[in-house]
Amino acid sequence: MIQTDFTAAYARIHLPAKVVLAVTQKPHGGYNLITLEWFMRTSIVPPMFAISIGHSRFSLECLETTRFFNLVFPASAQKALLTYCGSNSGRDLDKFTETGVEYFPGKLRKLPILKDATANFECEIVSQVRSGDHNIYVGQVHYTWLNKENELFYYIH
Ligand SMILES: Cc1cc2nc3c(=O)[nH]c(=O)nc-3n(C[C@H](O)[C@H](O)[C@H](O)COP(=O)(O)O)c2cc1C
Repeated sequence: MIQTDFTAAYARIHLPAKVVLAVTQKPHGGYNLITLEWFMRTSIVPPMFAISIGHSRFSLECLETTRFFNLVFPASAQKALLTYCGSNSGRDLDKFTETGVEYFPGKLRKLPILKDATANFECEIVSQVRSGDHNIYVGQVHYTWLNKENELFYYIH
C-alpha cells in the first residue's frame, strides 16, 4: 500500500459500475434524460434512491423546477442511448426526439417510462444536500416498473 493522489486511486477502483438514466421534466415543457454513474439506494422503507447531479447540468435546473425524477436502469442493448444522453445537454437539443427512445407516460406526473429498459423507478424528491460541485437529490419511490427478460447494462470500461 502506498499513499497516492485521488485520481490515480479512483481510476483503479471505479469500474465496473452500474450506470443509470434519470428522466426529469423540463422547466418549459417536455422531458430530459441524463446518464448517471453516481447514484445509490438510501432507504428500505420507504424505498429511496439518491442521485448526484453536477451544477452545470441542465438536469439540475429541471430538478430545481419540478421535484420528480424517474430512475431508469437500462438494458444491455441501450449502450448507445447512455452514451448520447451522457454527452449531450438538454439545453441544446431534445434527447427524446433525437434518440427516438420509446416510452409511455408513468403514473407520477406522467414522467416517461422507458419501455425497453430493465427497470424504471418513479421518484419524488424528499430531501437534498449540496456536495461540492454536485447536488444530491434523495427521491422516494412511488411506482416501479420491470422488464424481467431484459439483462441489466454494466459499464465495464
Ligand atoms: C458514464 C457516464 C456517467 C455519468 N455520471 C454522471 C453523474 O453521476 N452525475 C452527473 O451530474 N453527470 C454525470 N455524467 C455526465 C452527464 O450525463 C452529461 O454531462 C450530460 O450531458 C448532462 O446532460 P444535461 O445537461 O441534459 O443534464 C455522466 C456521463 C457519463 C457518460
